[in-house]
Amino acid sequence: MEVFIVKDAAEGAWFVAQKVIQLLVGRPQVILGLATGETQKPVYEQLVQSYLKKTISFAEVTTFNLDEYVGLPSDHPSSYRSFMEAHLFSHVDLPPLQRHGLNGMAIDLLAESERYENLLKSKGPIDLQLLGLGRNAHIGFNEPGSSFESRTRVEFLAKSTRLDNQKHFANPEEMPTRVLTVGVGNILEAQQIILAAYGKNKARAVVQMIEGPRTEEVPASALQGHPNLVVVVDQSAAHELKKRELYRLC
Ligand code: GLP
Repeated sequence: MEVFIVKDAAEGAWFVAQKVIQLLVGRPQVILGLATGETQKPVYEQLVQSYLKKTISFAEVTTFNLDEYVGLPSDHPSSYRSFMEAHLFSHVDLPPLQRHGLNGMAIDLLAESERYENLLKSKGPIDLQLLGLGRNAHIGFNEPGSSFESRTRVEFLAKSTRLDNQKHFANPEEMPTRVLTVGVGNILEAQQIILAAYGKNKARAVVQMIEGPRTEEVPASALQGHPNLVVVVDQSAAHELKKRELYRLC
């Protein structure tokens, strides 16, 4: 695991975007695992700028999103599909058939999970997985207690996640309590992972993920065993880290 401590979220997003751009320039047919959330917005903004300058193209890229709310139509403003449309898909040349996501409106959620697993198996492995971090150390929507071998499935949101994500809903009562998410096991299969976390409210999850025991109570700690993991945190998210000599200050 390589840990980079950057000044702030803007620098972190630049750092992450540069890594994605370098990969896309060298290998236009890359398979990207995509995340949603505030952390990713400025990354996607920079990818769009880079596409507009013709430095990169998404024409041969395939994407897989991590998760989706159960019961939200894909065009609902708070769905993760809408998030991706608004921040990346509608601005770049990524063909619609190469964008993959979970369907939160599927009648049979088990069959939908299996469909996604099969798709990941046939197209994968993912070359680069972008990740954010929940305040309770969730990755994707794998809440504390998720098995490190878990696969794509329905998950119930933890109380802290419901509180944190309510702000994305015009009417908080509309927020689903269930989601579809790829599992921790799926995430660990990516060739490379870049996890970013910024702000003081992520500090505890960051120290648990990096310096704490590898335990299913802390889903992100599963990543400690990953052979190609980059973690980007800003000064505030890093402030509980103790083994400073092991990290790179940027
Ligand atoms: C949601 C997503 C996660 C994401 C997290 C962090 O819960 N399911 O994949 O990592 O939000 O969000 P933010 O970047 O807004 O802090």
